[in-house]
Amino acid sequence: MKAAINSIYTWMDERLGLTELLAFAKHKTVPQHDQSFWYYWGGISLFFFLVQAVTGVLLLIYYRPGPEAFESVRQITFELHFGWLIRSAHSWASNLMIVAIFVHMFSVFFMKAYRNPREFGWWSGIVLLLATMLFGFSGYLLPMNELAFFATKVGLEIPASMPVIGPRLADLVRGGLEVNEYTVQRFFALHIVVLPALFIPLLGFHLWLVQRHGNAVPPSEEAKPAAQRQTIPFFPNFMMKDLALWLIALNVLAVMASLFPWELGPMADPLKPAPPGIHPEWYYMSSFQVLKLFGNWFHGAAGEALGITIFTLGLVLWFLVPLYDIRTKAGQRARWATYFGLFALAVLTITTIWGYAAL
Ligand code: HEM
Repeated sequence: MKAAINSIYTWMDERLGLTELLAFAKHKTVPQHDQSFWYYWGGISLFFFLVQAVTGVLLLIYYRPGPEAFESVRQITFELHFGWLIRSAHSWASNLMIVAIFVHMFSVFFMKAYRNPREFGWWSGIVLLLATMLFGFSGYLLPMNELAFFATKVGLEIPASMPVIGPRLADLVRGGLEVNEYTVQRFFALHIVVLPALFIPLLGFHLWLVQRHGNAVPPSEEAKPAAQRQTIPFFPNFMMKDLALWLIALNVLAVMASLFPWELGPMADPLKPAPPGIHPEWYYMSSFQVLKLFGNWFHGAAGEALGITIFTLGLVLWFLVPLYDIRTKAGQRARWATYFGLFALAVLTITTIWGYAAL
C-alpha cells in the first residue's frame, strides 16, 4: 500500500512539482506576537466567500430571474429537499462575510499593515469590501419578496442622492423609474457575472500580495530588534490554526442557518404601501442614517447630497490612508491616523445603532 502511494506521489511530483511546493510552504513563516489573532480574519473572510460560491452555484440550479423569481425561490425554500438550508446558509454567510471583512479591515488598519510596501493590499481590500457590499445589495433583491423590494427601493436612495450623477445612476441600476423584473434581471447579471468576474481576479491579486510581502507586524513589534521577534511556520502550524477557525466559522454558520432560517415572506406588490420601518441591510444602515440626518438638518435633497458627499469624502480619506500615514520618527502622523480610525469606527457604530433606534 505504502509503495503504491509512494509511486503515485512520485508520478504527481514529477509533473506538478509537489516537493517544491511543500518546501516553499514550510519555508513561509508568520509573525507571532500578542496581536497575531487578527491575522486570521482575512482567512475567515475567504472561508465565507468560498461558502458563498458553493451555495450560490447550488441556488443557481433552481433560481429563475424575471417574472418567476419569487416563485422559484418559494420552490427552493418550501419544496426542494434542504433547499431552505442552502438558501439560509447563503444569506447568513453573506452577512458573516461582511462582519469578518470589517474586523479584518479595522485590524489591518490599527496594525498599520497598509504602510509601505503594502499599499496595494489596502487598496485592493477596499475594492473587495465595496464589491462584497454590492454582492449583498444585488443578491438581496433576487427573491423579489416584499421586504427585498421595498428595502431595495429605499437603498437606491443612497446612490440617487449623489450630486449630478445620482438620479441617472439610480435609473441605470433600476432599468427604469421603478424597481421591477428588469431590475431583477440587471441585479442577477451583476450578482453572478459582473461582480464575480471583478472579485475573483482581485482576490487573487490581494492574496498574491500577502504572499509577496508576508504579514506586517504592528509598530510596537516593528520597534523590537529582529532577534527578539518570533515567527511560526505557515505550514503546518499557522494553516492548522486557520483550519480550526474555519471549522468554528462553519459551526457558527450552521447554527445560524438552521436555527434562524432565512425568511421569504410575501411576494412583492408594488401597488401596496411600504410596510412600516423598512430599511436597507445593516451594513448600509450607517450611510442611510447619515443621509436621513442631513436631509432633516438641512431640509431635503440639498441636505441629503451634502450628507452623501461628506460620507464619500470620508471614504476617499480612508482609501488614501497609506499615502499620508507613513513611518515618521516622531510618530505624529501615526497617532493622527489612529484617531481617524477610532473616529471612523465610532461614527459607523453610532449611526448604525441610531438608524435602528430611529425606525
Ligand atoms: C473578500 C474580502 C477579503 C479577503 C477574502 C481578504 C483576505 C486576506 C487574507 C487571507 C490575508 C492574509 C492574512 C491576514 O493578514 O489576515 C489578507 C491580508 C491583508 N488584507 Fe485582506 N481580505 C479581504 C478584504 C480586505 C479589506 C476590506 C482590506 C482593507 C481595506 C484588506 C486589507 C488587507 C491588508 C493590508 C493585508 C495585509 C495584512 C498584513 O500584511 O498583515 N483586505 N487579506
